[in-house]
Amino acid sequence: MHQSFNLRKFKPDDLQKVLVINRACLPENYTDFFFIELHRRFPKTFLVAEVNGEIVGYALCRIEIGLSHFGLGGLVKKGHMVSIAVLPQGRRKGIAQALVNAAIEGMRFYKVNQCYLEVRVTNTVATSLYKKLGFEITKTIRGYYSDGEFAYEMSRELNSKGNL
Ligand code: ACO
Ligand code: ZN
Repeated sequence: MHQSFNLRKFKPDDLQKVLVINRACLPENYTDFFFIELHRRFPKTFLVAEVNGEIVGYALCRIEIGLSHFGLGGLVKKGHMVSIAVLPQGRRKGIAQALVNAAIEGMRFYKVNQCYLEVRVTNTVATSLYKKLGFEITKTIRGYYSDGEFAYEMSRELNSKGNL
């Protein structure tokens, strides 16, 4: 049984806490400007999760136009899950799953056709989370990370009616 938590949209006051979570959980870190700029441009897809009023996780996304990851290609609008993390004490409660689903709901507002992300090929926890949520591996990107590790690109189609 999953414990209770609350999801809400990021607000600029949350920035320091989100930076701390990003640095605690992932080697890929970003500047203040990067978070604030994505919030300014795409406020509906930057979400935080709280337990007892404390932020324990976030999902940060960007809306892009680029080549389709499915079918014959062509240009499509894509939701890019840039960074997702949950503090160790908040894990295994369904928080990341809820953050990804809520980010996808936010992406629908921006009328995206697909969503995707990159994940380390050794990150079996995250890849199993994304598989559970309907993502499939659409590419392996050699040397994607600064330490040389490969990434899986994982993608999911979202139909235009907004259903799963
Ligand atoms: N072992 C196996 N499967 C797991 C595990 C685990 N330890 N944790 C989660 N999963 C899978 C399960 O399928 C789980 O479903 P279940 O609980 O019903 O079995 C599903 O993922 C959902 O789990 P959540 O509880 O929603 O995940 P959680 O809130 O614990 O967060 C996350 C998962 C974000 C990957 C967390 O472990 C984390 O912050 N890790 C470090 C940072 C990271 O790897 N972020 C993703 C990088 S890729 C990117 O950012 C685009
Ligand atoms: Zn990415």
